Amino acid sequence: MLTIEQIDSIDKEFEDRLGQVGDARSLEALRIEFTGKKGKLTLLLKELGAIPTAERIEFGKRINDLKTRVEGQLKEYAEKFKQSPAKKSDADLTLPGIKPAAGKLHPITQTIQKILSIFTKMGFEAVDGREIETEFYNFTALNIPLNHPSRDAFDTFYTRHGNLLRSQTSTVQIRMMQKHKPPLKIVAPGKVYRPDTVDASHSFMFHQIEGLMVDEKTTFSDLKGTLAFFLRELYGPSTKVRFRPHFFPFTEPSVEVDMSCFMCRGKGCHVCSRTGWIEVLGAGSVHPNVLEAVGISSKKYQGFAFGLGVERMTMLRYGIHDIRLFFENDVRFLHQF
Ligand code: PHE
Repeated sequence: MLTIEQIDSIDKEFEDRLGQVGDARSLEALRIEFTGKKGKLTLLLKELGAIPTAERIEFGKRINDLKTRVEGQLKEYAEKFKQSPAKKSDADLTLPGIKPAAGKLHPITQTIQKILSIFTKMGFEAVDGREIETEFYNFTALNIPLNHPSRDAFDTFYTRHGNLLRSQTSTVQIRMMQKHKPPLKIVAPGKVYRPDTVDASHSFMFHQIEGLMVDEKTTFSDLKGTLAFFLRELYGPSTKVRFRPHFFPFTEPSVEVDMSCFMCRGKGCHVCSRTGWIEVLGAGSVHPNVLEAVGISSKKYQGFAFGLGVERMTMLRYGIHDIRLFFENDVRFLHQF
């Protein structure tokens, strides 16, 4: 049978629900739910007949009071929503939306990924190295003894405990050869540090990618073929490649690798300093001393190694003239790539 509590609870429910109504549509739904034909209040009134006469007056009065109040409030809200449509139309739905600012990979990261994808296609495995190294990996094992003059250019940042920030990714050659026996075919990207004064083409920190292949029959012509393929993939099939004798302590023979200028196709322009050629890599056959330093027989095994500067490659790819732009974190620059 109908109780006073039931009436009170419907009263409370209505108050709560009305507080949540935000527009004319949900107000109309609320109206139907409470005062419609099968509405909660309408049903209450119907149950009134079953109440004993003595109490019916009291019940009837309560329900009717509630009904009047509910209808009054519904009306009041309906008025409110009638006035607000003007406000709604303030929003111009034809305007284009606000584009969320999407992040992008840094141009250096993009170049690293592109280069690694070319080498992994040739069967090289991409591996990681470490940035804090010991002198052994950065110098000694790479055939650069303490008194060697080429330490100067590479003498970098030392920690208090005698470790150093690596000045070349060639350290990874040693770490990989210590851990794995040949055949080996790896590429290793990462940061290197040098005591260089910062200017348009120098930075105390930049990125290199190291390559190393060691096997029983790896020859210098494998090196030439690998690098020519790589440069043609990156700079176009008509790229010519030239090898100039050079010196690195950890390779013998050593070369510097030039490619024909992609801008002027060898005629000479500002990109190639009017020479028609652009220097892009250091490379060579792995020095027997390096193989022996990690316990690999230089009689049985031979290999080649190369190292390239990622910033330089990226500057050439996009015609960027100042290396500092990469490290300033100016989104107006970075968003172009
Ligand atoms: N490590 C050399 C450099 O930083 C590049 C290099 C790597 C040369 C491997 C030969 C072989 O200049």
